[in-house]
Amino acid sequence: MRLSGFYKLSVEERLRKVAEIVGLSPEESGMLISSGTLPIEVADRMIENVIGTFELPLGVATNFLIDGKDYLIPMVIEEPSVVAAASNAARMAREGGGFFTDFTAPVMIGQIQLVDVKNPESARFEILRNKAEIIEKANECDPILVKLGGGCKDLEVRIIDSIYGKMVVVHLLVDVRDAMGANAVNTMCEKVAPIVGRLSGGRPLLRILSNLAVYRIARAKALFKKEVIGGEEVVDGVMKAYAFAEADPFRCATHNKGIMNGISALMIATGNDFRAIEAGAHGYSAIKGYKPLTKYEINDNGDLVGTIEIPISAGIIGGATQVNPLAKICLKILGVKSSEELARVSAALGLAQNFAALRALATEGIQRGHMELHARNIAIMAGARGSEIDRVAEIMVKEGKIRMDFAKEILTKLRAKEG
Ligand code: MEV
Repeated sequence: MRLSGFYKLSVEERLRKVAEIVGLSPEESGMLISSGTLPIEVADRMIENVIGTFELPLGVATNFLIDGKDYLIPMVIEEPSVVAAASNAARMAREGGGFFTDFTAPVMIGQIQLVDVKNPESARFEILRNKAEIIEKANECDPILVKLGGGCKDLEVRIIDSIYGKMVVVHLLVDVRDAMGANAVNTMCEKVAPIVGRLSGGRPLLRILSNLAVYRIARAKALFKKEVIGGEEVVDGVMKAYAFAEADPFRCATHNKGIMNGISALMIATGNDFRAIEAGAHGYSAIKGYKPLTKYEINDNGDLVGTIEIPISAGIIGGATQVNPLAKICLKILGVKSSEELARVSAALGLAQNFAALRALATEGIQRGHMELHARNIAIMAGARGSEIDRVAEIMVKEGKIRMDFAKEILTKLRAKEG
């Protein structure tokens, strides 16, 4: 089916059309268009073909002490247990002084691909020789960024092997200050592409930022005292869980996914491009073979020391961070003053999330906690309301049967009993 001119319609008209085609009830249409507090006219300007807004739960992770400052971390996520796990790990890290962090600089890489370059080495030389002029040209794009201390700071030229032979790739290194920076970087790449193209004797093709933000690295470290986390056995269990991820990409993907459970939830809450952070994280972990983003060691005292190193290309200005009123409120809850602080908090959150997952997996497993929450969801879907939800969920968990049919059966019995 081709819907021509769909994008030109108003939100209401689009919704009416979709409702007509797929048979949405007036109630369903109403829910789409007024699901939350993101004004529909704002949503309509954020993306294309808008027919509504979509809500997710927003939770707050507690107990985080990061570089001596207390944080409440807003997290938007559909998965049960994640917020609780982060808060729990942060509580344990607190006993060891909390999280300590480090950050490189908010520097993004913009790539300019040069093709049909006959003499790549000469091209590289000429581009580097004219570096100052290229940087100056790039900085003409964004005088405000430059005034704030940001802008294009450096340039590197790589020669890569491709199926089309050697290719020259120019990297603009751009300090984007408190923005995520995609717009600033992409604009600069497009602006200087003709110059580097000319200097290379080739042709510029792609001009786009790299999500592998190796110059925008956040690090965090935490001490988990053995007596706080459950003793030597737990320390050993976490170490072996980490060793598993280190040795096996199948486990490593899940290990890193757990880290991103926390970080992406914070990115969504703050209106950031969580796909960019995910891409950067997995790209970074794959630089020397796919490896865990966290590492663990045992100190002289027998305690566990966890560290994380991850690129975080997140901003507190620009994009949806300011357009979405909920993202603005979440930034206020978080209380960060710069993209650097956001990156530091993200790293700490990722480490907390990972430690919590490994500890749970190496001890009782994660299913009990998950199942309790899952059971509540099933109870709600089966029609349970108010106090019925917990009662139905409890019986399902106890019986080990977390299923819709069983939930309905319990509910019917409960209601019959209470008449
Ligand atoms: C689930 O969303 C995340 C975990 O699988 C992470 C992990 O296995 O480390 C629990």
